[in-house]
Amino acid sequence: MDQPRKLHIKSFGCQMNVYDAQRMVDVLAPEGFVETATADDADLVILNTCHIREKASEKVYSELGRLRLARDEAAAGAGRRMQIVVAGCVAQAEGEEIVRRQPAVDVVVGPQSYHHLPRLLAEAKQAGRALETEFPVEDKFGFLPQPRPEAIRARGISAFVTVQEGCDKFCTFCVVPYTRGAEVSRPVAAILDDVKRLADNGVREVTLIGQNVNAYHGDGPDGRAWTLGRLLQRLAAVPGIVRLRYSTSHPNDVDDELIAAHRDLPALMPFVHLPVQSGSDPILAAMNRKHSAADYRRVIDRFRAVRPEIAFSSDFIVGFPGETEADFAATLALVTQIGYAGAYSFKYSPRPGTPAADMPEMVPAAVMDERLERLQQLIDAQQSAFNKASIGRTVDVLFERAGRKPGQIVGRTAYLQPAHVFPAPGTAPDSLVGQILPVRVDSLERYSLLGELAATPPQHARPLAATGA
Ligand code: 5AD
Ligand code: SF4
Repeated sequence: MDQPRKLHIKSFGCQMNVYDAQRMVDVLAPEGFVETATADDADLVILNTCHIREKASEKVYSELGRLRLARDEAAAGAGRRMQIVVAGCVAQAEGEEIVRRQPAVDVVVGPQSYHHLPRLLAEAKQAGRALETEFPVEDKFGFLPQPRPEAIRARGISAFVTVQEGCDKFCTFCVVPYTRGAEVSRPVAAILDDVKRLADNGVREVTLIGQNVNAYHGDGPDGRAWTLGRLLQRLAAVPGIVRLRYSTSHPNDVDDELIAAHRDLPALMPFVHLPVQSGSDPILAAMNRKHSAADYRRVIDRFRAVRPEIAFSSDFIVGFPGETEADFAATLALVTQIGYAGAYSFKYSPRPGTPAADMPEMVPAAVMDERLERLQQLIDAQQSAFNKASIGRTVDVLFERAGRKPGQIVGRTAYLQPAHVFPAPGTAPDSLVGQILPVRVDSLERYSLLGELAATPPQHARPLAATGA
């Protein structure tokens, strides 16, 4: 038999890229590729790139510079030919430019075409290079092989499943509608198949992902378009699935069925990422968000009315063109009113081809720095207060893997807080993986909760998924 070839894949950016990277591994497994942890010994290196902000985009070129050296060394030393692929959103947006700036690249493939990787790699061997950044007419999901059971088990008990891709919202700062294309939802039956297969192989928590996940409107088995709320309701009935999450949502697409899902489904975690970007109405209008700060607060209130323990996280952009001190103060005021469990905040980065990139009145860099600092301080304080409130309480933890210290086990709370626990003597940490157990929280270590099991694990406990097997 041929020696397996080694594949190293490095992902940048969002959860969708993490998911896509796994699917690329699945596409290449039948070609004889196995994953390796470093680029240096790889026969194939894939950079799965992010275009959302300039800093993320530029990373590709520095990575490629390093990879070219590794490739030359592999060729000079072991006489091994390393192929280099650029995938993801930078590939989509800057295909030709990548090849011009770094001739060592063999294949450029956009996020909608990676099911063609085996053909593109073969073409590149023949022709020296292959580039595919069209949005193909066929849906890649119909062509992606299912992950092998061993691959699912090795990835652990928590999995992402793409249910929706692309975005039709066209916020004026954002490249996603251009790099990921128009909004497309996968059919309910295909998602259900994926989730059942994951559950059969030990997965206990599924996060449904999409650039605009709550715009989901996939074909249901009844021939109608199902909403995300309805899909969640169906998935909550899959045996073995004990936790469901979804990300990322737009406030305008929160409908009554999604709110009802939070009311009715204990498996749906009370933690929602709901980006608002700014608290200022004029800035929200310039961003083309199509909602006001008050609209956003009303959406938050609807969630809280049915699930009082629900917590939120958000994304913010500071220094959008024309943002005044008063606009920024409105953002701080909104953050104070809502009270987040955490949030991501970014300095505005003009992206080529987006409407905001042509807006005058750029906010000076020093002002952006200073606003980012103030916003992050406020968010950090809210996050610390949220975490501190767990001390002394008993919280449910879904255990994911043995910890680094002997006897320790690591999991996450409903709010994705990491929890580190030393189980009772005589309990093998692995036997708790995949179970939800109550933990009494004693203290915090940075962002992690430390505590002890508040109940004896069931005697018949068996490892549900051997991670890293
Ligand atoms: N500049 C800064 N941040 C941006 N984001 C998207 N586009 C830009 C940009 N041009 C942020 C938004 C989005 C998150 C994924 O990235 O906050 O929600
Ligand atoms: Fe980008 Fe999200 Fe706006 Fe879509 S809704 S354009 S993904 S920020």
